[in-house]
Amino acid sequence: MTPKDDKLEQTNANTSPAELQEEIHHVNNPVLELPTIEKKYLGKVTGFVKEGSSFYFTDGKAKVEIKLFSDEIIRVRLAPEGVFLADFSYATVNVSNGPTSYTMEEREDSYQITTARTACIIRKADFHISFADTEGKVVNQDAKAMHWEENSDFGGYYVYCTKSAPQDEVFFGLGDKASNLNLRGHRVKNWNSDTYSYAFNQDPLYKTIPFYLGVTEGQSYGIFFDNTFKTYFDFAAEQADQTSFWSEGGELQYYYIQGPQMIDVVRRYHQLTGTHYLPPLWAIGYHQCRWSYYPEKMVRDVTTEFRKRQIPCDAIYLDIDYMDGYRCFTWNAKYFPDPRKMIADLAADGFKTVVMIDPGIKVDENYWVFQEGQANNYFCRRGDDYFMEGFVWPGRCQFPDYTNPEVREWWGGLYKGLVEDGVAGFWNDMNEPAVFGRGTFPDDVRHHYDGYRGSHRKAHNIYGMQMVRATYDGLKKLYRDKRPFTITRAAYSGVQRYSSVWTGDNIATWEHLRIGLLQLQRLSVSGLSFCGTDIGGFTGNPDGELYTRWMQFGVFSPFMRVHSAGDTRDREPWSFGPEWEAICKKFIELRYQLLPYIYTAFWQQHKYGDPILRPIAMLEQHIPQNLRREEEFAFGDHIIVSPVLNPGQSSKTVYLPEGDWYYYFDDTAYTGGQEHQVATPLDEMPIFVRGGSIIPEYPIMQYTSETKIPVLTLRLFYAEGRFNSYLYDDQGETFGYENKEYSWKHFIVEGTSDSLKVSQLAEGHYTSYHSQYKIYLIGLSVEVLEMKVDGVLTSVEKDERGSYIVVDPAFKKIVYQA
Ligand code: GLC
Repeated sequence: MTPKDDKLEQTNANTSPAELQEEIHHVNNPVLELPTIEKKYLGKVTGFVKEGSSFYFTDGKAKVEIKLFSDEIIRVRLAPEGVFLADFSYATVNVSNGPTSYTMEEREDSYQITTARTACIIRKADFHISFADTEGKVVNQDAKAMHWEENSDFGGYYVYCTKSAPQDEVFFGLGDKASNLNLRGHRVKNWNSDTYSYAFNQDPLYKTIPFYLGVTEGQSYGIFFDNTFKTYFDFAAEQADQTSFWSEGGELQYYYIQGPQMIDVVRRYHQLTGTHYLPPLWAIGYHQCRWSYYPEKMVRDVTTEFRKRQIPCDAIYLDIDYMDGYRCFTWNAKYFPDPRKMIADLAADGFKTVVMIDPGIKVDENYWVFQEGQANNYFCRRGDDYFMEGFVWPGRCQFPDYTNPEVREWWGGLYKGLVEDGVAGFWNDMNEPAVFGRGTFPDDVRHHYDGYRGSHRKAHNIYGMQMVRATYDGLKKLYRDKRPFTITRAAYSGVQRYSSVWTGDNIATWEHLRIGLLQLQRLSVSGLSFCGTDIGGFTGNPDGELYTRWMQFGVFSPFMRVHSAGDTRDREPWSFGPEWEAICKKFIELRYQLLPYIYTAFWQQHKYGDPILRPIAMLEQHIPQNLRREEEFAFGDHIIVSPVLNPGQSSKTVYLPEGDWYYYFDDTAYTGGQEHQVATPLDEMPIFVRGGSIIPEYPIMQYTSETKIPVLTLRLFYAEGRFNSYLYDDQGETFGYENKEYSWKHFIVEGTSDSLKVSQLAEGHYTSYHSQYKIYLIGLSVEVLEMKVDGVLTSVEKDERGSYIVVDPAFKKIVYQA
């Protein structure tokens, strides 16, 4: 008998049929006596205390901490009952140097804390917090006091923050959201999700990056809401003049980051959450992937074909089928009888091998990884202590709790065998975590959370990040001084310290090419610069034109990899016929020619937190129209690209930022600060180089370490004014750069109507292999016959690419004077 029947039995005896009817209705549709959960708001400020660089304000019960991290970074935390949670974050690195100086002033109606760059004002009457620049111009302010709601199911609070959203304000950031760059009018959710074949505006996707930038009246700031629970952001969607962010648990803790430029905000966000380590050079070459290349013969056939056709490629990927029954860290002996030999042969031919590793560990008493995980209690458990079990590729699985440091250590060591086999890179997938049928883990699953334990509600969004962190840390030990290469699908802020990312299971459509363009720009301003899409689309079948246009965009994706699902047509660059092959080859070659430029951009990202892709808004935020441009973007410091996003498109409108520009393919000069109609023949795409810059170029190579390059080409694009260009070089594989084993060159180009000067400053202990620079002079309107290099007259030569001089890389000054 069920409890319901029991209840009916008891009531039957002395009730009328009508009452009985009513009773039955209530038993089947119980009126839940829900407590009315009220939102509580901070009240009037009653006082504060100061400890170090933190101020604790109170309304008599709740407390708010205002902590000065630097002159431009201020953290706000709310403790509804006056007790803060432990100050622990997976996202941030230790960056609290404190401000250079600050003052605290109590006014009649407010408190004002002012650093050298930012003012934080706390209004006494209603606890509203605002941020201003040092001229007193308010950049961001509360529209409501911070508020919360008790969470009766799990304990803790739902926490809310609501800011004013001036009419002109636009919003960027939030990671991999597949929507327009400006998030105004959108409400988004962060809950890492396996979203096969996702659609435009579908939300949430795979990653949680609770960081956004606002731009209002030409000034930018950032908010990083460091909360791993399910979080929401409403950008003036529900109320046209308000932006809110809230969470289903944890602390209301956010960092306010002062601009005024978007690039300042992103750099400072990187100070907080870290930058990407410098990848090995091969990782920024072209990569070929497929679900799946097997058996060994197919892998060899594909790689051989690349070399035969002379299409450059640095890495070949093995998806899940290389494993024995999808058991991680094993090989399928039938398909890959001698993996070590195969990997060595591929390496001799210039191919690195990258393999997939998922978190689901097959429940199999005879499988060593399962045995070890069981013996050491490393797998996640449900609220009532049963193991968390779910189905993924191998069938029934259990899942390591990567939020436990001991588990991470163990996981990192599991790669030993594959590393010894010669595997050069690892791809962590399904780590949202994805579970077939139910989507992900239920909320009650418990996690160690580095000692700050919590349910899956708290750990879900950082599960994937901690997985790839364990992978990266383990590989760093196993490869010793060599830089690991990792990719992850799920992410939380700070993941860039451990991994590159890709945008998951996209679709082979023109719409998705456009979505990819939006996602990569968005990821880049959200701190994840080393990002890419599945070029060509994961599901569905592209035709030659879509594949080729996507490949062209791929050249300008920091992570450049073709990948596709197993039930789709072949996706090698030659799979669409000779016409498309020739264009793809030309563009993959372009990627290799641009390698020194791209590597320099990676260095700038690592060292300064400069995004590799930059939306036009980031270049010219003072021009309101530019805040809404989405198709053109900057790739590194000097190149603007506008991918072709439609079939049969023979021209497109391209906006070029202020300054002088040159069309990459024929050096035609263009004036910036305006739109141009640009022809888009299939074998070209709109690529423009900024006048005044120096673009370094490698010769075409079949893989990054194929040859040493004695003569490095520099293309010098003339413009009037003073400009900076940089060139980074190192040994390409080790962490030597941490000890300045690199060569960092700073070129200063000065052009007037009748002169051109180039000087250089150098830093670092590494001597590049280049013994000569061949400098092409582009855009000079007069024919120059001689230039002075460090005072010595040097003649200008000519070849099919134009006029050039050959100089010693150690030159100090090159001068041309009419
Ligand atoms: C997931 C990944 C995809 C991979 C597949 C098989 O769908 O997103 O890239 O190929 O799993 O491992």
